[in-house]
Amino acid sequence: MTILTQDMIKEAAQYIQSKSPVTPQIGLILGSGLGVLAEHIEEPISIAYQDIPHFPQSTVEGHAGELLVGSLQGVPVVLMKGRFHMYEGYGPELTAFPVRVMKELGVSKLLVTNAAGGINTSFAPGDLMLISDHINLTGKNPLIGPNDSEMGPRFPDMSQAYSRKLRDTAKKVASEKNVPLQEGVYVGLLGPTYETPAEIVMLRTLGGDAVGMSTVSEVIVARHAGIEVLGISCISNMASGILDQPLSHHEVMETTDRVREKFLSLVLSIIPEM
Ligand code: HPA
Repeated sequence: MTILTQDMIKEAAQYIQSKSPVTPQIGLILGSGLGVLAEHIEEPISIAYQDIPHFPQSTVEGHAGELLVGSLQGVPVVLMKGRFHMYEGYGPELTAFPVRVMKELGVSKLLVTNAAGGINTSFAPGDLMLISDHINLTGKNPLIGPNDSEMGPRFPDMSQAYSRKLRDTAKKVASEKNVPLQEGVYVGLLGPTYETPAEIVMLRTLGGDAVGMSTVSEVIVARHAGIEVLGISCISNMASGILDQPLSHHEVMETTDRVREKFLSLVLSIIPEM
């Protein structure tokens, strides 16, 4: 476990502030293949993760390691193109470090996106799913260790991990834009293996609708820090055992590529309403 101190968070934030005068209101974390949003930032300042003090480095293909500060539809934002995963070897507190830094920069709302496997058999690859809640099955928690009460409470409430108000807003915008939006529970696992068919049956029994290898630690830290969260999954494939075909990262990237326009149109319209 790495203890992430206030000093480390402040150093990272000060470095970013030295590159951009923008005070972001909304933080965005973009999952595999969903980085296209970054191209729509007005007057972006790009900062490589490797240049930010204490930031981990992203190692996965399809996840560029770049922080962008600027505005989207007139709203000041900070955007992570590519995130950190526990399967890369980082502890949960490190995968969520950028969320702490976002809070320090002034962020009060977080939009998290990811690619996920569809567990719910009424879903289809290419669907977008509003995350109503999550099940943390990583066996890890980013808040393990001493609690700094200046950062948040020892025992944070998770009864609205994904803000009902923001979900209602997303649903309203989606229906106005005629973008179909599923809604369901995201199950977060460690990875990096995709699940077995038996594990998917178990996750469905437990109430999961989609499964992925990210997001839960970021959302836990966001809630600890008092940040409101909106989450959207792109169902990039049906989960293991549903279709008679193997899963691949290639399929995940192909699907996220295909939904690019729909995803973009939805998120760009949601941002000013958040
Ligand atoms: N399982 C876990 N993570 C994923 C999947 C999946 O099927 N698809 C995209 N990320």
